[in-house]
Amino acid sequence: MNILVINGPNLNLLGTREPEIYGTDSLEDMMAWLEDSPEAADHTFRFFQSNHEGKIIDVIHKNKQWADGLIINPAAFTHYSYAIRDAIAAVNIPTIEVHLSDIHTREEFRRVSVISPVCSAQVSGLGKEGYLEGLRILLRRIIGNKNPI
Ligand code: DQA
Repeated sequence: MNILVINGPNLNLLGTREPEIYGTDSLEDMMAWLEDSPEAADHTFRFFQSNHEGKIIDVIHKNKQWADGLIINPAAFTHYSYAIRDAIAAVNIPTIEVHLSDIHTREEFRRVSVISPVCSAQVSGLGKEGYLEGLRILLRRIIGNKNPI
């Protein structure tokens, strides 16, 4: 399977950004760890991080044909980007929303995700394990769709 992994704004600062919330691993460390996991073997990954909404939308569009699945941590865009939500709906790629922290136990504004209605699942509060859990859910979903009972 071809898996696109997108990380949104400020996640390039992981490792030093609010480590008490997000931990001390860098984004590169987390993505390398994900790609090295046994679950990732036999799959091809593209990783993309941007602080810009439009660039994230462009990458979703560009990978419409290539990607069998999308794992996205939209970061703060989670809470207000109808444009990213519409992009995910437009390309029709099975998508899992991932958050390192538990957005449901933090500030009020983080509890709302405008992205989740167009995703198959939301994984929140598992740290980097959330990306792996997202991959597992995604693979079950894609493989399930290709082998209907
Ligand atoms: C985040 C949670 C968001 O509310 C926040 O804006 C982020 C990171 C997370 O991974 O926990 O930047 O998506």
